Amino acid sequence: MLKIASMELIKNYIETNKQRFLDELFEFLRFQSVSADSKYNEDIINTANFVAKQLRAAGADKVEICETAGNPIVYGEKIIDTGKPTVLVYGHYDVQPAEPIELWISEPFEPTIRDGKIYARGACDDKGQVYMHVKAFELMMQTGTLPCNIKFMIEGEEEVGSSNLSIFVKANKERLKADVVLISDTSMISMEDPSLETGLRGLSYLEVEVTGPNRDLHSGVYGGAIGNPATILAKMIASLHDEDNKITIPGFYDKVIDLSTEERKALNSAPYNEQAYKVDLGVDELWGESGYSTLERTGTRPTLEVNGIWGGYIGEGAKTVLPSKAFAKISMRLVPNQTSEEITKIFTEHFENIAPKSVKVKVMPHHGGEPVVTPTDSIAFKAAEKAIEESFGKKPIPTRGGGSIPIVALFEAELGIKTVLMGFGLDSDALHSPNEKYDLFNFYKGIETIPLFHKYFAELS
Ligand code: BES
Ligand code: MN
Ligand code: MN
Repeated sequence: MLKIASMELIKNYIETNKQRFLDELFEFLRFQSVSADSKYNEDIINTANFVAKQLRAAGADKVEICETAGNPIVYGEKIIDTGKPTVLVYGHYDVQPAEPIELWISEPFEPTIRDGKIYARGACDDKGQVYMHVKAFELMMQTGTLPCNIKFMIEGEEEVGSSNLSIFVKANKERLKADVVLISDTSMISMEDPSLETGLRGLSYLEVEVTGPNRDLHSGVYGGAIGNPATILAKMIASLHDEDNKITIPGFYDKVIDLSTEERKALNSAPYNEQAYKVDLGVDELWGESGYSTLERTGTRPTLEVNGIWGGYIGEGAKTVLPSKAFAKISMRLVPNQTSEEITKIFTEHFENIAPKSVKVKVMPHHGGEPVVTPTDSIAFKAAEKAIEESFGKKPIPTRGGGSIPIVALFEAELGIKTVLMGFGLDSDALHSPNEKYDLFNFYKGIETIPLFHKYFAELS
């Protein structure tokens, strides 16, 4: 007999199992599942095994480690009644590299609690948030309150573009059939101002190589007579923004849909304290495309960023050298209706066009992803709103997230399923940075909120 998950039942279960949940999460966080670096391949496999084991222990059926050309995908499901709605939970067990290690206060792969927060690589992005779903599922199984069917797909290549997951999704349409995709891999404004992201930006990521002379040269003997690729690259990059900080690539904004005045007003009414934002980041002044607020610049406008730039001598001391090559890694965040393919193409053409004849340039695309906007009038979104309202005591504010989860657009395109982004992280959780953290409060709050989502989703369906 199906029971209904009351707040009291949920809280009791969490209270009784609190420490074990945390111990298990710590075990999860100790795996060095860095997808960007092949030296961690064994850790990746061990992490996938751990996720599969925990899903099985929580009560999932048909748990399978699905091999791909890259890192495995962990799948599991619990079908209670084919007449009931199905939620597909997606997350990722891979993490970003921990470097620079010396900036971590405690070891990145030895989770440590300080001030009520778990410090570890992946604590928030996304192991901590994936684990909330595993434990919420256990809770529903153990208390007999699972109100709908549930499928889990936890991948190991999100941080490197999910290209093998795309292949998997296309090949497993029947198995992945669901009414909604539920993802906890985004942020809230704060625990006092709970929010739900209603969009993700797309991404076009590429690397450029600028080559000058055929070898490194003495910077005194040849300097002044030969184009220095580092100087030229810096100039080319600087020219990609104009005085209004608009991107100068011809056609870059052509497809961008302008938001209506009402939409802009609604987004700008979210709590935002400019002074606190500046203090938090240690900057005296903000920067960005003129005519837009910070919330718009990070949520609804496309951007171009240099993620890394190097060339020549970067070791200790001085070496007088005019480098033969200089490099940069450049990303562009995209908004509806830009496509990564087109943006990559126009960037490449423009970059080749602006190169002076004294150098040769090469543009190498890495990965891409398409932007998405998620519906706010769906049953699933309403279920998320109700769940958060009940657990936080406050209605969530809809916001636009600046980050990207490339697979979300593909779920829509290939499976025809919309997503709810019910993330419990904070922008200040230092995702991808040293000292990544996740608040214990957020972790348990997530476990509390997720069963409520399933309950309301089943009820409203
Ligand atoms: N979880 C993040 C994305 C995110 C973070 C969305 C915060 C919204 C708020 C995800 O793991 C991520 O980092 N994605 C990458 C893209 C990927 C292709 C490397 C990103 O956004 O840079
Ligand atoms: Mn993530
Ligand atoms: Mn990430």
